[in-house]
Amino acid sequence: MGAGKTTLGIQAAERLGRRFVDLDSEIERELRRTIPEIFAERGEVEFRVLEQEAALATLRESRPAVVALGGGAVTSPKIRDALHEHALTVYVEVEPDVAWARVQGTARPLAQEEGPFRALYEQRRPLYREAADAVARSLDDVVLAAAGVHVAIGSLEQLGAVVPGAGPVALVADTHVAGIHGMDAQLALGPRLASTHTVSAKGADELERLWRSLGLDRAGTVVAFGGGTTTDLAGFAAATYMRGVEWAAVPTTLVGQVDAAIGGKTAIDLPEAKNLVGAFHWPARTIVDPALLATLPESERLNGMAEVVKTGLLAGEPLWELADEELVRRCAAYKSALCLRDPHDLGPRHALNLGHTFGHALEAASDYELPHGRAVALGLLAALRLSGRDTAAVEEVLAPKPVAVDRARAWEALLRDKKGRLRIVLLGEAGACEEELPEADVRAALDGLISG
Ligand SMILES: NC(=O)c1ccc[n+]([C@@H]2O[C@H](COP(=O)([O-])OP(=O)(O)OC[C@H]3O[C@@H](n4cnc5c(N)ncnc54)[C@H](O)[C@@H]3O)[C@@H](O)[C@H]2O)c1
Ligand SMILES: [Zn+2]
Repeated sequence: MGAGKTTLGIQAAERLGRRFVDLDSEIERELRRTIPEIFAERGEVEFRVLEQEAALATLRESRPAVVALGGGAVTSPKIRDALHEHALTVYVEVEPDVAWARVQGTARPLAQEEGPFRALYEQRRPLYREAADAVARSLDDVVLAAAGVHVAIGSLEQLGAVVPGAGPVALVADTHVAGIHGMDAQLALGPRLASTHTVSAKGADELERLWRSLGLDRAGTVVAFGGGTTTDLAGFAAATYMRGVEWAAVPTTLVGQVDAAIGGKTAIDLPEAKNLVGAFHWPARTIVDPALLATLPESERLNGMAEVVKTGLLAGEPLWELADEELVRRCAAYKSALCLRDPHDLGPRHALNLGHTFGHALEAASDYELPHGRAVALGLLAALRLSGRDTAAVEEVLAPKPVAVDRARAWEALLRDKKGRLRIVLLGEAGACEEELPEADVRAALDGLISG
């Protein structure tokens, strides 16, 4: 009571593109009575019976929804069982003082006097904790929980407890990262650690080597420990090994923590093209420890900042100004929500391509000498110019410099990437929008990123 479940539930449903069900309102509508009237006319015991029926019916429905349960619903063991079976349950935590300040003076039957209200709070608290898969205090917390993303400084030490399941783990670590943080990860996995594999590229050879050495059965879990190269390779290995085993991502680069380890896309590179072969295979958990970024080289950090600035522009907030833990949390939540809305990349998720059409073209024209982050920084400039928007944030944070690549090659690469249709993600007043633009405008914007 007074935790803000309904407000948060409505916002979460909106952000995730699901319907919202408020159980108390459903009961009120069904009986054409307010909750206080039902309590007064029928008593709490009868209300709990009605509540249980309504909750079980809603939880057993297969259509995805965000459901706000009444504060007392978890006192029913049947509802608790149904939550375990059918739902991801998020406990919206609130201090009793705050809750009381919100509910006092309202008509809520169980919040008429402070003493009994506080006693009820203490009595129910263990039940909430027991029923909860995650604890949330904000909308971002709810979104991250729904996506299985866990962000906390020091979470590497909790790895053994946070990796889902109880079966054996094959740790797939970036070679360099294994040298710095590998021991910590191995220790944290404890007796579940069955094997360790090191990787430094995401090609077909590396994939085959993994397939042949993982040695897991279907109950096993692949844990990927590294940047996007590692999570893409290990995630794809998990998607295909024995027709799919579970995996968890532990991203160690800024790109990984705000982008690559979120959303379930996995892929390997072939000589013909990057990310040519892949699968959608959502990690059972993404465990993000921002403290791992302390050892990341500055050039790699800058790659990640390009995605951070992109995310901030899309979200309409200067997320790049935040300190690491909060910056990672906010960006991870932003991408998580879009990916939950659009897991197979059919629409809303295209927003994440802001700046990438131009970026990919420059990368290809440089034979991939140009780092992705530098290419995206330039791409963002072009996208903002075409959108008629201010480019100050990109210039200040990413300081992009025009690159010396062949103009014709870059243009050909862009056309190949777009398969002839120049639909470009732009930044409108209300966020991203895709628009088909005249060839001359797109070409001029691309030319503006090239020197010489
Ligand atoms: N699946 C997706 O949605 C998605 C999204 C974005 C990018 N990607 C993929 O991600 C890859 C790029 O990933 P990346 O940018 O994370 O780079 P990366 O994984 O190649 O790592 C970059 C370098 O940083 C080092 N490193 C990583 N973590 C470190 C740490 N904590 N301390 C010190 N050094 C560390 C690595 O050894 C490596 O040399 C690309 O293949 C791209 O296609 C995938
Ligand atoms: Zn990118």
